[in-house]
Amino acid sequence: MLALGIETSCDETAAALVRDGLEVVAGVVHSQDELHCRFGGVVPELAGRAHVEKIDAVLRAALDKAGLGRADLDCVAVTNRPGLVGSLVVGLTAAKMLALAWNLPLVGVNHIHAHLYAARMAEPDFEYPAAGLVVSGGHTALYAARDAMTYEYLGGTIDDAAGETFDKVAALLRLGYPGGPRIDKLAKAGNRDAVTFPRSFLQDASDLQFSFSGLKTSVLYAAMGEYGPRNDAALDAIPDERKADLAASFQEALVDVLVVKLLRAARKIGAKTAVIGGGVACNSRLRERLREDGAAAGLRVVIPPPAHCTDNAVMIAGLGGALFAAGHRDDLATLDAMPKMNG
Ligand code: KG4
Ligand code: ZN
Repeated sequence: MLALGIETSCDETAAALVRDGLEVVAGVVHSQDELHCRFGGVVPELAGRAHVEKIDAVLRAALDKAGLGRADLDCVAVTNRPGLVGSLVVGLTAAKMLALAWNLPLVGVNHIHAHLYAARMAEPDFEYPAAGLVVSGGHTALYAARDAMTYEYLGGTIDDAAGETFDKVAALLRLGYPGGPRIDKLAKAGNRDAVTFPRSFLQDASDLQFSFSGLKTSVLYAAMGEYGPRNDAALDAIPDERKADLAASFQEALVDVLVVKLLRAARKIGAKTAVIGGGVACNSRLRERLREDGAAAGLRVVIPPPAHCTDNAVMIAGLGGALFAAGHRDDLATLDAMPKMNG
């Protein structure tokens, strides 16, 4: 069973072919990072337009790469929630057109659930229930995965997302966009004990919410430090060594919270496995800490390869294919783009 997956929920235009929900046949991702970097974040209007420009070429590239076409396909899977509405509609419209023209069933996929399903594709034999953490530019949330297709929300951020926090801290350290990978790299040269930044919501052992806006402000104050009041010149003047220490200390505080809460969620639901997904799941310190602390807690830890952590269509074709095999179908007339999560 071969699924064509389409993903356009944020700033990646992606298409992929996946067999039986697990086997990657082809995947193509076009990133808009270059378009948005001078604004320091994704500009929704520009993202939607850029998807329109690229969607045809990306779809064609995925099919060409696989050397496959209409006759080989069993369904079209598409991200229809959550995301930027002007971006979602581009992929959804393309998916509906293909489903109609090629007379194929259509399956709408939840992007967040797909980030967690990516772990299933990496290691299909892990045991459920699993505790899942999705950490990206727009989301930071914990889930109980009952099986590969059923995800129940346990808690999430009440302000900034983890990736957004990485990006904002990188901006104030003058590292450029997207900030996560740059902080990750710079942190390797710094001392993670240089500054003790606040770990939010760690006191109450049952709390599964996150808050990162205080951490971001603490980094700003520490960055200004002896270099003067908040102004661009003060931030421009931070020496490289100090930047590395701030990056390492900030990353440690954020990773600490993510790992503690994921393990807390795992305990709460009696999980056998802990999985992560989303762009921040590429972070080398998060991967290392989760492997160590997860093993110490007696959990199997499953982390997808970095290319399947950032936005991609492989995870959409994977989960869409699994849903299709389980009998799931969506209606061309009623499947809508939904910007919000709704579970
Ligand atoms: O999942 P994703 O590609 O797009 C969204 O749905 O948001 O995640 C992008 C986010 C960005 O905020 C980026 O800075 C962050 O993931 N990111 C990282 C790393 N690689 C990407 N954050 C920390 N460390 C990384 N190595
Ligand atoms: Zn994502």
